[in-house]
Amino acid sequence: MKVDHIGIATPTIDEGLAIWRDALGLEPHATEEVTEQGVRVCMLPVGDTHVELLEPLSAESAVGKFLAKRGPGIHHIAIEVRDIKASLAELKQKGARLIDETPRVGARGCLVAFIHPSSTNGVLLELVQHQ
Ligand code: CO
Repeated sequence: MKVDHIGIATPTIDEGLAIWRDALGLEPHATEEVTEQGVRVCMLPVGDTHVELLEPLSAESAVGKFLAKRGPGIHHIAIEVRDIKASLAELKQKGARLIDETPRVGARGCLVAFIHPSSTNGVLLELVQHQ
């Protein structure tokens, strides 16, 4: 297991790139739209993990609501797992509150599922399985 990425909510990708690319010198991957989750996503590799900039496509999207409530900042932490269905089943069995009972397709074509922060120390947790 490893930290696949840290998701950061930002009003615009450009605003995020001004820090992570222009000031810190990270090389961004191409920006991609994940319509299903209402976000535009830009990944920047940092060592063997990534910063994931998340720009809402609308104020009603989950990230749009997050920004309105809390402003820009860390939105979620994503852990890479080998078998996302098995991990979800185990978390559920141990009492975690799943947002996604079954995995869906996220950025980079990965299978992803979110776990509610109420069962993960207040941190929105994303599981990622690379395909
Ligand atoms: Co993510």
